[in-house]
Amino acid sequence: MMTVKSVLVDRARAVAEQPLDRAGVDRTSIGKLVREFYAKVRNDERLGPIFVREITGDWEPHLEKMTDFWCSVILKTGDYHGRPVPAHLKLKHVTEADFEIWQTLFSQTAAELFAPETAAVFVDRAERIATSLKLAMFFRLAPAAAGRGQ
Ligand code: HEM
Repeated sequence: MMTVKSVLVDRARAVAEQPLDRAGVDRTSIGKLVREFYAKVRNDERLGPIFVREITGDWEPHLEKMTDFWCSVILKTGDYHGRPVPAHLKLKHVTEADFEIWQTLFSQTAAELFAPETAAVFVDRAERIATSLKLAMFFRLAPAAAGRGQ
């Protein structure tokens, strides 16, 4: 059934499927966003050690992969072919509070580099993806709801 909500949801989805066509948003500026964001992450007292444990050698492959990822998300380039959920499921010590730090640092970096309405698009996509990663990582049915009866 077509409701106001379903129309809005369809419209949001249609917008999210379009490549963002705005001056100054290209692989170069997205690469800069990725690099400045991970510089903040590495300096963060909570997130820094998590990444240092996982990325022991050269950061360049990770930064290039993340640039491919964001170009795919924002410009629909199709450069990224990885699987984010398994990559995060194996991070056993990451908490929901860590995601808040991640999102704060990401929003700050986007706001420093892009015009507000462009930064908002990056932040909106990051939030949606963070929500699905958090569901995969942390969502557990309560025992009663899972049918185990206690
Ligand atoms: C506290 C939150 C997070 C932590 C601690 C975290 C940590 C990590 C780590 C350690 C890796 C593996 C690095 C590597 O070997 O390349 C990784 C990969 C990745 N992360 Fe996150 N992440 C977080 C949130 C997010 C969010 C919100 C997004 C997207 C908006 C994201 C997107 C990705 C992607 C695309 C990869 C590459 C996966 C692959 O293809 O291998 N992460 N993350």
